[in-house]
Amino acid sequence: MQPTSGPGTNVPSATATAPAATSATSDPANLAAAAVKGIAHIATLPDITVSIIEIVENPSSSAQDLNKVISNDPALSARILKVVNSAFYGLPRQIGSINRAISLLGLNAVKNLAIAASLAKLFKGGALGSRFDAKDLWSHSVAVAAIAKHIATTLRMSFADEAFLAGLIHDIGIMVELQAERDKLAAVVQKMEFDKDGKPTTDFLAIERATLGCDHGVYGAALCEAWKFPKNFTHVCGHHHDPRQLPPDLRTMAWIVHIADRLAVSTQKKGFRMDVSCCDIPDDALAAIGLTADGLHQIRIALPAMLDGAEAQFQAA
Ligand SMILES: [Fe+2]
Ligand SMILES: [Fe+2]
Repeated sequence: MQPTSGPGTNVPSATATAPAATSATSDPANLAAAAVKGIAHIATLPDITVSIIEIVENPSSSAQDLNKVISNDPALSARILKVVNSAFYGLPRQIGSINRAISLLGLNAVKNLAIAASLAKLFKGGALGSRFDAKDLWSHSVAVAAIAKHIATTLRMSFADEAFLAGLIHDIGIMVELQAERDKLAAVVQKMEFDKDGKPTTDFLAIERATLGCDHGVYGAALCEAWKFPKNFTHVCGHHHDPRQLPPDLRTMAWIVHIADRLAVSTQKKGFRMDVSCCDIPDDALAAIGLTADGLHQIRIALPAMLDGAEAQFQAA
């Protein structure tokens, strides 16, 4: 995959500023890279996803390019057509081809559907007791993707599709933990405490660091590196909880996802939320992306309907 020209390229890896591990034996970035190596089935991004992302990142790509890639994968085509023909879109007639879907819904809508449909199958691994289910993480990730894209579109930023993808993978480090360190993640989940509304009262990231040696940000950043994703995605995965750790000129996408994460948690009835105990949106986050308090208010109003739609579209594989 070619590096994107979006914000935040050509910079040091997010893993370089990872929080210190409690284990004296391993540096967190090495720990995470070793974990990623051990789970080849998730560490290898499906070829089809790579091709679709290349199309997303190439401004000169056409509907024909996308049609060609998707049509090579009959299962993916079928999934996309099923979504397109679902009640959510309310189209008057059944759509029988990807080409027709692109001409009715637009290239961008079908690109996002294709990426989400191809990534959904990575969010496997089931449940850890009653407190964690990979399906809830997927549902949360889809919500963050939809909100991040909405924020970028509202602010007329040029990278709305990139924001969608960044939102979709921001917590993917938790999937690395689930697949590479299942017992330890189960121990983390077990140590968490919640108030009566389900809000965490303990610090998920601190417990991750104490139990696993690093948090899901570091694991996610390591996976982005293994996937050879553009650096900006490494930064978002690595620092979606603490964008201030990034140099100021590289924070935009991380702030968008940080805000989208908190908005998703405060709006969604279900969905993973163990790593977000405070849903306030920091003033410096709004200032950094140029969103006004009124703009944020408008986004909050639009959220419930948007999330219902997003969830209907991107069900887990
Ligand atoms: Fe997170
Ligand atoms: Fe999240």
